[in-house]
Amino acid sequence: MISVGIIGGSGYTGKKLVQFCNSHPFVAELKVYGNSTAGQNLYDLFPEFNNIVNNSIINSIDNLSEHDVYFIALPHGEALKIVPQLINKGKKVIDLGGDYRLDSKDEYELWYGKKHTSPELLNSKIYGLADYQRLDYSTTDLIANPGCYPTATILSLLPFVDSFVDDILTVSTVAYSGTSGAGKSPKQELLMSEMHGNVSAYSLNKHRHQPEILQMLRTFEFDSPFSFSTHLLPIAVGIYATTSIHLKNIISENEIIGKYKSFYSNSPFVRIREVPPQLNWVVDTNFCDINISVKDKVLIITSAIDNLIKGASGQAIQNMNILFGWDETLSLLNNGVKNVSVY
Ligand SMILES: NC(=O)c1ccc[n+]([C@@H]2O[C@H](COP(=O)([O-])OP(=O)(O)OC[C@H]3O[C@@H](n4cnc5c(N)ncnc54)[C@H](OP(=O)(O)O)[C@@H]3O)[C@@H](O)[C@H]2O)c1
Repeated sequence: MISVGIIGGSGYTGKKLVQFCNSHPFVAELKVYGNSTAGQNLYDLFPEFNNIVNNSIINSIDNLSEHDVYFIALPHGEALKIVPQLINKGKKVIDLGGDYRLDSKDEYELWYGKKHTSPELLNSKIYGLADYQRLDYSTTDLIANPGCYPTATILSLLPFVDSFVDDILTVSTVAYSGTSGAGKSPKQELLMSEMHGNVSAYSLNKHRHQPEILQMLRTFEFDSPFSFSTHLLPIAVGIYATTSIHLKNIISENEIIGKYKSFYSNSPFVRIREVPPQLNWVVDTNFCDINISVKDKVLIITSAIDNLIKGASGQAIQNMNILFGWDETLSLLNNGVKNVSVY
């Protein structure tokens, strides 16, 4: 049994972590830490947790207790202030933010506009794409949990890049997110009156998830042109990614689907679908649903996830399960996720 600290447990992804940890069979103790909400009662913030979560005090991030594992669900830059001291104490850390995802300090400073103060951890961390079964977690105490768009995009591309990287001419991903992807702090452009009935692209050619996706693809010697465009949908939860790949040669759809099924044969949370997935099939779950469609030399891959679960907290719990050598589905299947439908 372990003790867990959720730093940023008062935010959107933190709330999901509380929910999953609370129903986890090996989590004996759970403490929530917040910033502006420190000292408040969790039930005041999330009344849904009344009679469900026992320990309801939100503790201050400045006064961390001893835990076996810490989830960090803070805005980028904030993990840099906390993670090194936890790692030095020999603790396990799973960071949901972007501070440790990129391998290069220079890339981090370029894309995040901040100085990286613990670059040595960029090399020792594992980029925790949990459904990529070839990762070895025994070498690290720090898991950098992938971003939401990268999870949907990379999972949908990896098997193809793994088998057919030399057949690729260009890759173009067009992705869509619900507004919870931006966290809980108020922003004018996310008001109902701005969003309702509206769609727009944003951060074109400068989204921080682009280098994260490319970093992973490059480990498969991918070096083709790649474009990544992100859009905001007037929905609360979900990521939908549609990727078009132009090929040098014709490859049969059956051959590609066969590679995907084999690549994910041991991944309980990836489902290869016969038709393009719908967000409704994955919202409130830790699944990533993928469909493959080929005509002539054009391959179109669609994928869908819940950004707060598979794209953040669900994957983080899956990573904790793997880190401790438990069944990776613990607390993520049949755990009553839909009983507390919140984001
Ligand atoms: N939302 C998503 O879909 C998603 C997906 C993947 C990864 N992520 C990443 O996960 C992290 C958390 O995202 P979120 O959506 O849960 O954010 P959020 O809803 O805005 O919650 C942020 C949390 O961080 C705390 N916090 C805010 N400002 C802080 C500061 N200056 N110093 C210390 N703590 C501070 C807040 O505490 P108080 O409430 O007490 O102020 C809250 O607990 C981010 O790095 C984000 O990029 C998010």
